[in-house]
This record gives sequence, C-alpha cells and structure tokens, in this order.
Amino acid sequence: MSLQIDAVLGLQWGDEGKGKVVDKFAKGYQAVARFQGGPNAGHTLYHQGQKVVLHQIPSGVFHEQIDLIIGDGAVIDPEVLWKEAEGLTRLGINLRERLWIGTGAHLILPIHKWLEEVSETSQKIGTTRRGIGPAYADRYARRGIPIDWIEEKDFYEKVENLHRLYAQHYSHLSPPSPLSEEFQAGIQLLRSLRKVDLPSGLYRYERILAEGSQGTMLDIFAGTYPYVTSSHTTIAGVLAGLKVSPQAIGKVYGVSKVYTTRVGEGPFPTEIHGDLAAWLQEKGQERGSTTGRLRRCGWLDLVALRYAIQINGVSALILTKADVLIGLREVLVRTGGTDSQPTYTAFPGWQSLSDPAFYTFVRWIERELAVPVSAISTGPEREAWVSLTSRS
Ligand code: GDP
Ligand code: IMO
Ligand code: MG
Repeated sequence: MSLQIDAVLGLQWGDEGKGKVVDKFAKGYQAVARFQGGPNAGHTLYHQGQKVVLHQIPSGVFHEQIDLIIGDGAVIDPEVLWKEAEGLTRLGINLRERLWIGTGAHLILPIHKWLEEVSETSQKIGTTRRGIGPAYADRYARRGIPIDWIEEKDFYEKVENLHRLYAQHYSHLSPPSPLSEEFQAGIQLLRSLRKVDLPSGLYRYERILAEGSQGTMLDIFAGTYPYVTSSHTTIAGVLAGLKVSPQAIGKVYGVSKVYTTRVGEGPFPTEIHGDLAAWLQEKGQERGSTTGRLRRCGWLDLVALRYAIQINGVSALILTKADVLIGLREVLVRTGGTDSQPTYTAFPGWQSLSDPAFYTFVRWIERELAVPVSAISTGPEREAWVSLTSRS
C-alpha cells in the first residue's frame, strides 16, 4: 500500500481546536506530522483529566504506538522543545524513540526572539513573540540554520555569525548573548533526538496525519496580510513542508468553531463587542493558549469559511465549541456583504445539543458550503464529541 496523508487544517484564524481533533483521530494513523509553524502554536489536549498545551510536539503524543514528526516546513525553538519534552517526561511520556525531527526544519535562535521584542512590525501585528517571523525571514533570505547543521563542528560558529549580523546592526539596544545555557541545553536535546530525511523517511508509513498550526486566514499568502503568520498554514504547506506530492493527500479535515475568534491585530469582519463578546470569552475560555491574551470573538463568517474550504480542498468539516453557544436566543452567521459591511442570517439559538435547532443549523451549514460535517466537538475533553462518520 502506498502512503496516504490526511490533514487536519484550521479554517479560521487559529485555535479552532485542531489539537483536540488530532488527538481524537490519531489512533487511525502510524504517525502525526507537524509541517509548518513553531511554538507560536498552542494546541490544547486533555489527558487523564489534565490539561496539556503543546507548542511543538505533535498532538498524537498520548498514543504510545504513534510516531511524531516535526517536518521540514517547521521552525524549532530548542529551548521550548527542551522544556516541553521535560513536561511530557513528567507525565510518563518518553519521546526519544518516537519523535523524529526533519533535517530540513530550521532553528529559532535567541536573537530571533529578541528581534521580535524590538520590532515595531511585530508589535503592530500582535505576534506571539516566539521569533517565528525573524526565523522564517532568515530561512527565506538563505542565511537560516537548518537542523542538519547542528552536528557540524562549526555549528556554534554559524550561530554566532548570524547573531553578529543583527548584534552589529542593533548594537545600541544590547542584544542577548548568542549561546545561553538554555539554548545549548536545547541543542543537546535536539542532538539526542532522531532525525528524519524527508520525504524518504515517510515511506515506511502507510497513513500519516498532518497536523496544521494556526489557520487558513493566517497563511502568509492566503491570509489577511500583513496580519498573518510567516508560514503556509494551508494544504500547500503540507506538500511543501513534508515534501510530498498532491497524490499522497487523502482526506482534508477542515476545523472551524461555530463562531470565530482571533488573537492579535487585523481585520475581523464579524467581530462582536460589549457584553456578548465578554460572555463568549468567558464561556468559551477564549484566552490564547500560548500568550494568555484574550481572544477577540465574533460570529461565524461563512464568506471566509467558503474561501478556506475552496483553497484547501476540504473534504469534511469538523465543527467545534458547539456547546459554547448553548443558551443564546439567536445565533448569527455572516452570509454576505463586504468585509466592512457584512450581512447576516439569523438562526434560533439552541438550548442543548439535542435541540433540533442545533441540527437545523448544522444541516444548513453543510448545504451552504457543500461539504459534509463529519464530527462535532461538544466540550474540551477527548470524549466530548459527536461523530457523524458516515458523512466524512
Ligand atoms: P488549536 O490551537 O486549534 O489546537 O486550539 P486551542 O487549543 O488553542 O484552542 C481551543 C480551545 O478550546 C482549547 O482550550 C480547547 O480545550 C477548547 N476546546 C476544543 N474543543 C472544544 C469544544 O468543543 N468545546 C469547548 N467548550 N471547548 C473546546
Ligand atoms: P494555533 O496553532 C491563533 C497569530 C498571532 C498574530 C499572528 C502572527 O494554536 O492555532 P506569529 O507569532 O505567528 O508571527 O503571529 O498570528 N497566531 C495565532 N493565533 N492561534 C495560533 O496558533 C497562532 N499562531 C500565531 O496572534 O496575530
Ligand atoms: Mg491554539
């Protein structure tokens, strides 16, 4: 049998619940692979009643038989990886046999994180300040540092050379030391982990689940530029980041909340303000998993969703956070208008998830978007889930 890669992609501005979906689906696969992004991601899982937020480790981590891959399209912060691995070790998870690092993934250096602290652009965008933009900028400027260089004798010299480039430019602002203890500890961990050459290393598997980070509307090309992240969060990112052909792609699961959230700055046509926004933030626990910032909240935007479904070739939709809207008298969905003057269709709210009003809403979404809803998430825990599998 040849390799099939299914993908779980965010269709909005991130935080759709991708981590939970991947954790739920993982047992049907031999490996879960991140293909882009870095520790700007915060994917929340519940394991044995405990909340765990993953930043770089794929969300299949709690299924012991499954391999975990960080693909070439990703950027890796060794310090964050080291801390994340330690946290998982405390939960009894051993990553050494299971975690595979793509040799073509790039490093996030201390200077990249520092550059974000002093960058007005990063402040304007409201980035996660994890060094994502500067690390990808160096990668595309062809002076970045890929993982396979960490074994070379002059590795630290290369890090210092890149550091020096910025340190000279910003000498008036006292940049950090290039080789902190934490950074070196992270490099030690990276050296001890297994590496994988892509794509050849993928062909030992038959089924891989590709785990998206961020969401389609944050894609560097397809999103709301410049208020985006610095990688391809869409299906294009799976192909480029894992170095596979379109023929390898099987199902594309698109994840969307039944409303919309956004962290950071940028356009948000369906944004809600005032008491209702505060109610959603409270009930939906809408606080960033990585930065702790309150997420902006708004109604579901079918215009944006239709676009995201189209460019990703979504074959099945997964709706999340259906429980959060319980109790509203009326639920709005943007169905047209312009970004500055959106128009809405109103639905009667649902008072429980067995309320027929909720299923009327789901069926209507399927018809409007011409994509089946294959599952609905009804709470943060792994089992809070309604599967409509015959429709995937
Ligand atoms: P990701 O980045 O797409 O993995 O999503 P995050 O983990 O950043 O944010 C999703 C948040 O919603 C997390 O706190 C999840 O625990 C929570 N969550 C996921 N699905 C549901 C759901 O169906 N209902 C509720 N109430 N919370 C959910
Ligand atoms: P997950 O994978 C939500 C947002 C930031 C900012 C913009 C650019 O958990 O869905 P960056 O640090 O990437 O340069 O920031 O993108 N952002 C996210 N928003 N969820 C995420 O990841 C995000 N990763 C980045 O808030 O607006
Ligand atoms: Mg998140």
